[in-house]
Amino acid sequence: MNHRAVVIAGGNSVQLAKKVAKRLRASFTPLHVSRFPDGESSVRIQVNVEGKAVIIINALYPQANEALMDTALAIDAAKHAGALSVNVVVPYLAYMRQDKVFNRGESLSAGVMARVLDDADRVIAVDPHLHRIHQLGDLFKTRAESMTANGALASYVQKHYRNSIIVGPDAESYQWARAIAEQVGLQSAILTKTRFSSTRVAVKLHGHVSIKGRHVVIVDDVLSTGHTVAEAAKLARRLGAKRVSCVTVHGLYVDDAV
Ligand code: R5P
Repeated sequence: MNHRAVVIAGGNSVQLAKKVAKRLRASFTPLHVSRFPDGESSVRIQVNVEGKAVIIINALYPQANEALMDTALAIDAAKHAGALSVNVVVPYLAYMRQDKVFNRGESLSAGVMARVLDDADRVIAVDPHLHRIHQLGDLFKTRAESMTANGALASYVQKHYRNSIIVGPDAESYQWARAIAEQVGLQSAILTKTRFSSTRVAVKLHGHVSIKGRHVVIVDDVLSTGHTVAEAAKLARRLGAKRVSCVTVHGLYVDDAV
């Protein structure tokens, strides 16, 4: 038993946190969260973390705003309880797609999210949506790192989707699509996407790539409403693909995604 580390699970990552605690042979505790009638949250760490390395695990989906606030409160609670270090693992880091002020009057929300978590000694996210911001270190003041699921996805593709062509449905996703294609030695192609609203997108194929008769595997980092993948799948069908599959890191499946 590792008596120096405590894994604390936020409400969105209980199963994962249990597995991590088991692997680390560290103690596990769920974060106790209560909500006041006016909607405020109150958290409590129910074990002694004094002098211990605390690892808080919480995905920022579903309920991104509540999950972010709960995580921030947990960081502060661990510090007040005398933790030696406070490490936050965020399997899905929300707000990363708001990585610039797109329209006058908007916030740079990725930066706000980072400031909320910056009190931690270390932040680790899995495949954060790094696009205009190239690395988490450019966003956070605290030590921040990314892990990637590319290896796991590449093994899956190699095992189940041999002889396929990997398609990134937009410029942002192509970093994942290309990396996975390269790992398994498959051809890759990129689509260009125009987004009209959060539920309306259009895609077209970039360059001369033959898809006819092939098995297309769409690779995206985030599947939210599913419209990006759905439009990419429709295009692949129109271009004669004989089969279309999709692999994604963060399956949010918002509102019974299409
Ligand atoms: C954005 O660029 C991401 O890579 C995804 O393509 C996007 O978040 C998917 O959203 P949705 O599923 O709502 O189309």
